[in-house]
Amino acid sequence: MTSSQQPLAPLRILRLVASPNAEASESLKLSQQILFAFATEAGRRGIQLTDLDLNTVAPVDAPYAQALANQRVVTASGRDSTLSRSNELIDQLQACDVLLIATPMHNYSVPAPLKMWIDHVVRVGKTFVVTAKGKVGNLKDRPVYVAIASGGYISGPQARQPDFLRPYLSAVLATIGLTQVHYFTVEGTAKGVESLNTGRATGYGDVQAYFVRHSCRVDQV
Ligand SMILES: Cc1cc2nc3c(=O)[nH]c(=O)nc-3n(C[C@H](O)[C@H](O)[C@H](O)COP(=O)(O)O)c2cc1C
Repeated sequence: MTSSQQPLAPLRILRLVASPNAEASESLKLSQQILFAFATEAGRRGIQLTDLDLNTVAPVDAPYAQALANQRVVTASGRDSTLSRSNELIDQLQACDVLLIATPMHNYSVPAPLKMWIDHVVRVGKTFVVTAKGKVGNLKDRPVYVAIASGGYISGPQARQPDFLRPYLSAVLATIGLTQVHYFTVEGTAKGVESLNTGRATGYGDVQAYFVRHSCRVDQV
């Protein structure tokens, strides 16, 4: 069999689940729409999904914080600290073709479990280096899709609150080399059934429209 006849490996999607709401989570449901779209686009290639519940990720500990504060290049196995967990999470991230993040907005920004994951994977000397020109990411760039649910509105003329979530997430992912970040939202989930239904219809419609427009991209990741 020539290489052109080899079946393509399945598209490896790592999904981070940040909500405490389990199956009832609106951001999880929105991320499911993105997964359906990927599964359709991937066709016979298929997708290989790895789910990570971020509510199981512990905060970084003292040895980890001290290693980073001293800017030591961390080579120890770190059996006794969250360094080993950091290594695992970075390996898992490096192994995916697409990163999918399902997250609620909490207090205008990312929820604590997502911040904990960020603190594990945005690591000096490992996923980025500090240069005279600033921080430079070490990871191979790959698409990131973010499914956000918010109780109020964060887009358009109805928005009455700051949105630090999207600018922060784009900045911190760019630090490690991930620059292709696409956002989808279900907004107004806390404003009654009608608002929730409208938010879902808008968010799910945006996902469909995006994948219709970008249908050829799946072969390129
Ligand atoms: C601790 C906490 C803080 C929240 N902060 C905000 C906020 O700043 N802005 C907002 O629009 N909604 C806020 N919400 C509402 C959630 O974003 C909303 O319920 C969302 O639909 C939850 O998504 P999920 O079901 O995926 O967890 C907050 C909810 C919680 C529990």
